[in-house]
Amino acid sequence: MEPKKLQLVIEPDERLHKKSLPFDFATMNARALAIAMANVMALHEGIGLAAPQVGLPLRLVIIDEATVAEYDKADTPDEPLFVMINPRVLCLSDKEVEAEEGCLSLPKMFADVVRPESIEIEYHDINGNVCRRKASGTMARCIQHELDHLEGKLFIDHLSPLKRSMIRSKLRKPRKE
Ligand code: NI
Repeated sequence: MEPKKLQLVIEPDERLHKKSLPFDFATMNARALAIAMANVMALHEGIGLAAPQVGLPLRLVIIDEATVAEYDKADTPDEPLFVMINPRVLCLSDKEVEAEEGCLSLPKMFADVVRPESIEIEYHDINGNVCRRKASGTMARCIQHELDHLEGKLFIDHLSPLKRSMIRSKLRKPRKE
C-alpha cells in the first residue's frame, strides 16, 4: 500500500461491490491510511470515505465529523476526523428517517434514502482501542452509509429497482468535459 498514490474509485467498479476484510493493526498503519484518505476526501469535497472507495478492501472508514456537526447544529467535536475501524453494529433504532444522500463514488448523484434514525457501534479507533459510540441525525446516516461500503453496498442499493436503474443509466453516459 502506498497511501500517497490513493485514488478515488468511481462506479461502475467491481471493487465497490466486494465485502471488505478486517483491518490488521499488526501489519498496517492506520494513521497513515486515514491521513491519506482524508486528503482524497478533502480533494473531492466529501464528508465520508471508506477504504474500498480508494481501492483497498479494508474495514476502515473516515468521516469529517466537524462538517457533519455543522449539519446537525451540534458542538464542534474535539477531533474533526472520526476514524472507525473494524466496526460492528450493536443497535439500530426502530424509528426510520428519510434524507438525501450522495457519494463520492457516484458523482453528482443524489437520492432520498430511508435509514434507522440512530445507531450504536463498537469499533477500533486509530490507536486500536475498542470504543463504543451512539449517534443520531446526520452522523448516524453517515456511519450507516460508510458501513454499507464495507459490505460492498452503495446508497442506490436502498432504492427501488426503477430509481436505481435511472441513476445507473446516468452513470454510463460519457462525461462531456
Ligand atoms: Ni459513499
